[in-house]
Amino acid sequence: MEKTFLMVKPDGVQRNLIGEIVSRFERKGFQLVGAKLMQIPTELAQEHYGEHKERPFFGELVDFITSGPVFAMVWQGENVIATARQMMGATNPKDAITGTIRGDFGVIVGKNIIHGSDSPESAEREIGLFFKGEGLVEYKRDV
Ligand code: CMP
Repeated sequence: MEKTFLMVKPDGVQRNLIGEIVSRFERKGFQLVGAKLMQIPTELAQEHYGEHKERPFFGELVDFITSGPVFAMVWQGENVIATARQMMGATNPKDAITGTIRGDFGVIVGKNIIHGSDSPESAEREIGLFFKGEGLVEYKRDV
């Protein structure tokens, strides 16, 4: 079954949006197979966002994602990678439509509430980085 990596960023955690966000993916019908509240070490942040290391905002991005606890999750379900991205909305909350997580709760691109893998390759890489194959459950449900 397809899996994706989703993470409530420090702004989402501090604004008490973990429950709201988990609830949206639960109600959609996806299955939560791993979750942890954690403080990201700088090296992990740099590796996770490695593809952005030449961008002018890289330092700001790493500082922000390590500024407080995040809620890291693995979700599974059919087409979960693309559907979760739709549910999150556009990267910049100003472009995210109402009804999406960023459209409903975000204002600026640097504090856009949630991260989600953008492809099967990213999902595999990010799940590996954050969960290292540990702490994931397996279960079947026919609903
Ligand atoms: P995310 O999906 O976590 O992946 C990369 C992140 O970089 C993105 O969400 C944004 O939060 C952040 N980002 C993109 N553009 C900018 C920017 N111009 N300034 C600060 N952060 C940015």
